[in-house]
Parts: sequence; C-alpha cells; structure tokens
Amino acid sequence: MDHFLYRDGALHAEDVAISEIAAAVGTPFYVYSTATLTRHFKLFEEALSPLPHLVCFAMKSNANLAVIRTLAGLGAGMDVVSIGEYLKAKAAGVPGERIVFSGVGKTRADMRTALEGGIRQFNVESEPELLALNEVAVSLGLRAPITIRVNPDVDAKTHEKIATGKKENKFGIPISRARAVYAEAAALKGIEVVGIDVHIGSQLVDLEPFEQAYLKVAELTKLLRADGHDIRRLDLGGGLGIPYERSNAAPPLPLDYGAVIKRTVGDLGCEIEIEPGRLISGNAGLLVSEVIYVKSGEEREFLIVDAAMNDLVRPSMYGAHHDIVPVIEPAPGTETQPYDIVGPVCETGDTFAKQRPLPPLKAGDLIAFRSAGAYGAAMASEYNMRPLIPEVLVNGDQFAVIRARPTYDEMINRDTLPSWL
Ligand code: LLP
Repeated sequence: MDHFLYRDGALHAEDVAISEIAAAVGTPFYVYSTATLTRHFKLFEEALSPLPHLVCFAMKSNANLAVIRTLAGLGAGMDVVSIGEYLKAKAAGVPGERIVFSGVGKTRADMRTALEGGIRQFNVESEPELLALNEVAVSLGLRAPITIRVNPDVDAKTHEKIATGKKENKFGIPISRARAVYAEAAALKGIEVVGIDVHIGSQLVDLEPFEQAYLKVAELTKLLRADGHDIRRLDLGGGLGIPYERSNAAPPLPLDYGAVIKRTVGDLGCEIEIEPGRLISGNAGLLVSEVIYVKSGEEREFLIVDAAMNDLVRPSMYGAHHDIVPVIEPAPGTETQPYDIVGPVCETGDTFAKQRPLPPLKAGDLIAFRSAGAYGAAMASEYNMRPLIPEVLVNGDQFAVIRARPTYDEMINRDTLPSWL
C-alpha cells in the first residue's frame, strides 16, 4: 500500500497534488511519501517483534539525506556499501553503532574511516578482506566487529543481474568453507566475531529461497557455536520483492517473511538484523514526467516524455516493468490505447514501456511512473548532459525539495580545463 492516490480526479502524494509540485519544481522529478516510508519500515518492525532486532535500511536503494533522516528518526539502522554511504548515514544522524558495512571491495582507507567513526559490524566477504581489516584494526589499537557473509548456494529465482546467493556469484565465502574461515578469524587479534551474514538477492517474490538460506544459517550457527564462536547476531540481508505490476499476484508481505525468520532462526537466541531497501523505499516514490510530443510512427504511437533512461535506468537495464499512470484521473469508461513510452536520449534502449495501454494523452500532460523510489534516483546519471532531476519529499500537506536540480552552469563548471587548452 502506498499514499499516491487519486483525489478529486487528480493524483496526489499524501495531501499534495502532483500537479502542484510539478508547477513548483518543473518536470521531471522524483517525489517520495513520508507516510509510505514510515508504514513500510514499521511493517518490518512488526514482522520481527518480539525478537531482538535491528532493521537496517539498504541505503543503496535510496540515499537521499532526508529519506535517511526520516528512517533514522524511526529507529532504523543503515546497511551501507561504500564509505560515501557511511559518511552520508553519519551526516543524516545515524550513530555508528547502527551502521553495518557490506560490500566485496572495502579498501583499507574505508575500513579506517569506519573504525574511527564507529561501526556496528563489517560484513566481511572474503579472506583477503578479513586479513586487511585485521591489519587496519591492529594498527589503530582496535578490534573490528565482524560477521562473515556466507554464500549458501541458493537460487533466489530472481533476475540474474540481482541474484547474489549462487556459488558462481562474487559474493560471500562458500558456506562449505565457513568453519575454516571463522577459525582463522578467531585467531586474529584485531577481529571480533559477532555473527553470520547472508544475502541471496533482490526482488524475491517467493519465500522458499529465504527459507532454504536461513535454514543453512541456523545449521551453521550451531556448528560454529560448537566450535567455540560467540554467534550472537544474524544479518539476514534484504531482498523482499514489491508488487511492480498491480495486475499481478501480490508478493509475500513482511509479516510472512518475518514468520519465515522466526521459524528458521528465531529460537537461536540471536539478535536479528535485516537489510531491506526496495520494500521500504520502492513504492514510496514516483517519477513524474511530462509528455513532450505524441509522435505517430508507421506502426505505433510514441509518447516522447521528458524523463529518460538516465533518470530511471531499470527498464532499459533489467527490462523492468513500472506501472505508468496519468496524473489526471481518466473519466470512468475511457478507452485506452497502446503507446510506446520513450525518453529523449539517443538510444533505442531509452524505452520505458512498449505497447502500454493508457488513456489518450497529449503534449503537456503529466504521467507518473510508480514504484520508482528504490534504485531510481540512486542509479541516475547525467548521460546526454541531462541534469540529475530534483527529489521532493511530501509529509501530509507539506512538501520540500530535498535535492535541487543543478543549473547547467554548475554542471559545466564541474569540468576543468588543463593548462594547454
Ligand atoms: N543487502 C545487500 C548486501 C544487498 O546487496 C542488497 C541489494 C540489499 C541488502 C537490498 O536489497 P533489496 O531489499 O533492496 O532488494 N539495482 C537493482 C537492485 C540491486 C540490488 C543490489 N543489492 C534493481 O534496480 O532492481
């Protein structure tokens, strides 16, 4: 459920008309709903209660400072995958003890910054990383709290580019090697083992792979405890999928996911961490765009809109579906017609949807891409010298620009000329 509904014939974000925001900031733009972010975060809180737990928002899905601060204010921790995300989480007011640091390529400089600034745990992904972290921690006279990310070799049954838990993926250490690597970790002076980490992929719409992976983690917990390790925390990753197509069957809810967690690892006495991104931010955001031209091709009608693949890359990168709706509610009984919805970028791949049924639209009309709050703005680029588009946060009847559109001068002046030119 989200808070983007038609009211009096016009699409609203909570109590604010989308057209009002468009008039104030210009199109295209992203708009996020505080009520939806809050609702989704609380669903996970409820799903994990009464187990001791921390819900760490995967910042990679939406790293806007205001979004992070909103969630941090609700008690969220953060899952970061770069030192940039770490510094932004700190800037948003998240204390180090609520930040977990994931990712296969942490550098020594990253490790130093996080150790000095405070960190809940590093999710270590390889033996070389473990040794590097030990060296850095020892040099600082500290012990780095760690989990080791295990790769459970489970098929997440999702898009191949976002599946991470198969043995051919680059993530984690094979679960079969876990005991040996934990023994190695326990012998390192700069390392403090606190738990186990697993993450098998993103946009999972079936709970079965989670169940399989978490059962393997439960088994490993018992083995590692028998080996003498103090396994007191389990980081179970993110990945619960969202309904991108409202016409499809709804994916499982956080409550169902919580039941899997309780059933598989709930009686181990561990603190549970999860790292959801998409389910919290995805349906909390829209991308709003204006139709520039309606162009009749030989075989199809194109809606050329002012958003493009650089603003929302998911359709061209993963063939992802986003529901698209007109901002003015069509009158009941309006006939739809098929459109190809494309952006202005000079690539055929700059196509958001093909033969999508929509009510008749004309130049100047506004449309909204749903489910765009996760991996939307976060993956945007300035390809074709197109400015990163504004982000707006709505809260009840208020809205604020939480990232302004840069001017062309600002963009041009970021480049510098060498002395010989
Ligand atoms: N934890 C780790 C270690 C991850 O790698 C990810 C996502 C998450 C948590 C959060 O997963 P979520 O709950 O958001 O599914 N750009 C792609 C998605 C990439 C996901 C990468 N890892 C997309 O637009 O679909």
